[in-house]
Amino acid sequence: MNALILSGGKGTRLRPLTYTTAKQLVPVGNKPILGYVLGHIHDAGIRDVGIIISPETGSEIKGYIGDGKKWNIRVTYILQSEPAGLAHAVKTARSFLENDDFIMYLGDNLLSHGVKDAIREFKNQSPDALIFLKEVDNPAQFGVARLDKKGNILELIEKPKRPPSNLALVGVYIFTAKIHEAIDKIKPSSRGELEITDAIQKLIDTGCKVKSGLLDGWWLDTGKKDDILQANTVVLDEYIKRQIKGRVDSKSRIIGRVTVEKGATVTNSIIRGPVIIGQNSSIRDSFIGPFTSVGEDVTVIDSSIEHSVILNKAYLSGVERLEDSILGRSARVVKNHDKHKALRLMIGDDSAIEV
Ligand code: G1P
Repeated sequence: MNALILSGGKGTRLRPLTYTTAKQLVPVGNKPILGYVLGHIHDAGIRDVGIIISPETGSEIKGYIGDGKKWNIRVTYILQSEPAGLAHAVKTARSFLENDDFIMYLGDNLLSHGVKDAIREFKNQSPDALIFLKEVDNPAQFGVARLDKKGNILELIEKPKRPPSNLALVGVYIFTAKIHEAIDKIKPSSRGELEITDAIQKLIDTGCKVKSGLLDGWWLDTGKKDDILQANTVVLDEYIKRQIKGRVDSKSRIIGRVTVEKGATVTNSIIRGPVIIGQNSSIRDSFIGPFTSVGEDVTVIDSSIEHSVILNKAYLSGVERLEDSILGRSARVVKNHDKHKALRLMIGDDSAIEV
């Protein structure tokens, strides 16, 4: 079995971060989301991996994955010249996929248990397609399934205005080559995309065996700011160990599961886990609270941060209380000493600030 990982798209829902970073490379727990995806693919024993890239962010994705050796996989990059939908991406990858079975994994989706069990289930049941469903609070933002009483799929609808259930389609699909015939039969949706949801519906309509599984564990689609913070929380909660490789002075207190990477320094500060402090970052006279990822080469002085993601080279000084925030690379947040407390800002397009 091959894998097809989708790492294209424009990431419009994560702007302004995605003006400079592919959405699949936004880090949670200081590791790009795509890194977790590749790890899951490798853990499932798959070695041949097609990576769909876009003209906008393809070189950055290539820069991160390289030849795939780090994950012990063989990588083929496939350029999707326009964001014309998930089924269009499969069409673009047709010659790479040949007539083999394949797992398609959206590069901005995170699953707690990986995909090993999913592949085992596919091999046991040998359906034409296997999809996964998960109960969500906001089904209108996903592909949604309508099932009969026995749990068979009756209908799949992409982003329905009136969702028939709260069962969303997870961004992991396992297909046989039958999906290609189905894709050839569908038309672009109202948002102008060839939807994989419509292609799977076509499989159902033409009498193919489409099975669904309910997913164990958590699943996160990290397309928006709050999703990134939630993913960061879940990942830190699950994976962070107490590991102090950097330098912590005697005036500091490290409480709970905190990773301080090599070259990082903590001076006269309190760090309450789960927290990760990346390489060569410097924390001085500050408090870093639970569920915070501090990237590499970050400086935090005289500040308090909680439940946030701080990307590489950011600089914070005198920030009394920062929470539920994402700071992009090299962002600066500095206390204004003006006694009238006027805000002085340099804000890029699509920034969001709550004061
Ligand atoms: C895509 C699919 C949708 C699925 C979702 C999972 O949505 O079209 O059916 O539920 O991924 O992440 P998109 O991220 O393109 O809005």
